[in-house]
Amino acid sequence: MIDPKLFADRFPGDFLFGVATASFQIEGASKADGRKPSIWDAFSNMPGRVFGRHNGDVACDHYNRWESDLDLIKAMGVTGYRFSIAWPRIVPEGTGPINEAGLDFYDRLIDGLKARGIKAYTTLYHWDLPLALMGDGGWTARSTAYAFQRYTKVIMERLGDRLDAVATFNEPWCSVWLSHLYGIHAPGERNMDAALHALHYTNLAHGLSVQAIREIAPNVPVGLVLNAHETLPGSDSAADIAAAERAHQFHNGVFFDPVFKGEYPADFLSALGSRMPKIEENDLEIISQKLDWWGLNYYTPMRVSDDPAPGAEFPATIGAPPVSKVQTDIGWEVYAPALKSLVARLYGRYELPVCYITENGACYNMEVENGAVDDQPRLDYYVEHLSVVADLIQDGYPMHGYFAWSLMDNFEWAEGYRMRFGLVHVDYDTQVRTVKKSGKWYSALAAEFPKGNFKPD
Ligand code: FCB
Repeated sequence: MIDPKLFADRFPGDFLFGVATASFQIEGASKADGRKPSIWDAFSNMPGRVFGRHNGDVACDHYNRWESDLDLIKAMGVTGYRFSIAWPRIVPEGTGPINEAGLDFYDRLIDGLKARGIKAYTTLYHWDLPLALMGDGGWTARSTAYAFQRYTKVIMERLGDRLDAVATFNEPWCSVWLSHLYGIHAPGERNMDAALHALHYTNLAHGLSVQAIREIAPNVPVGLVLNAHETLPGSDSAADIAAAERAHQFHNGVFFDPVFKGEYPADFLSALGSRMPKIEENDLEIISQKLDWWGLNYYTPMRVSDDPAPGAEFPATIGAPPVSKVQTDIGWEVYAPALKSLVARLYGRYELPVCYITENGACYNMEVENGAVDDQPRLDYYVEHLSVVADLIQDGYPMHGYFAWSLMDNFEWAEGYRMRFGLVHVDYDTQVRTVKKSGKWYSALAAEFPKGNFKPD
């Protein structure tokens, strides 16, 4: 096994090692202290949407166990915690009354982090849209972008003085395409026109939120977390290479281009632009405000071939087979070189600010045996991918930190609780947490930081 102490030498002294979670996936207490349902509460209670009809009612019960969970994070020796705030706890109906009790929870959580010397990296939207907003169309309605701006203001006014960084959205690819086009995530819609509306209004909401953050808490570094896909052609035929470029535009460009260049990608626009909602005069200016950082969530590459079907809808691609034989228990190909080529390609195409890997990790479902969890394949995954991050730093890319997904096993969206990504195992019957072999290794690495002559502020 790679000695974490030696491995630590490959990272600069101020590199941030953290762990990540998201509100709906861990909190539970879905009806506590004035919280109202989100689209995920509704979706997970419908038959046939989530594996085993699992839901977020209890999850990891983090809402009640937050203090011991923060003690666990502290004991793991990491310096950053990435978590998300549940909009339905703060403005339970999306618009309308503010719920002070919801704000109090995050107030305590953030103070708890500060007291333990852990940096607070907050995400404002990790998919739990207040259900009441669906009455107006959810993300397919322009009004939701303004509701999000107001929710941002409420958060920043109350918590902005203690946040180390804030991200507007987590993986808009999922809350747009996966949720409105592919029907896998809430609200489970399968409609290109609806998805194109959700796309533009999500981008607009990001921009409006950045405005609000800058106005209220100008010192908090603001960013956006994207699950950029390394779109690799299934062969070196011209058709597949062109397909990979279209896939880039559709899966990455529709988020990166408006935010970092102030425009939508050209081929995408000529194929689908007429079905988008009206782009108002200042929209792209609002969307493309400069960011202080961006977050990359990476798990697996996307391999594509040209779709030969006549009249296939843009991006007109089909999936191509994996190259690596190794896959995780959720069926995702393990292929670390794509992380390297992806970062290089994105910095080549866009003027990007500094980068944090805001999620990376692996699904393996080993259980506790004799008080321990031997998840060697997850440990191997971390070593392989962190090694790529170290190479990227060496090559001069501004990689500032890395958050493991996830601190602990949790509600894995459409897969329910059957898919486990944690460094820490959760027994859902007893809520007992057990640090896995990978978690022990990661803590040994993280505990080395900050190191050398670097002095934290
Ligand atoms: C990402 C999500 C995160 C988690 C991981 C496995 O797409 O942001 O919530 O579910 O995948």
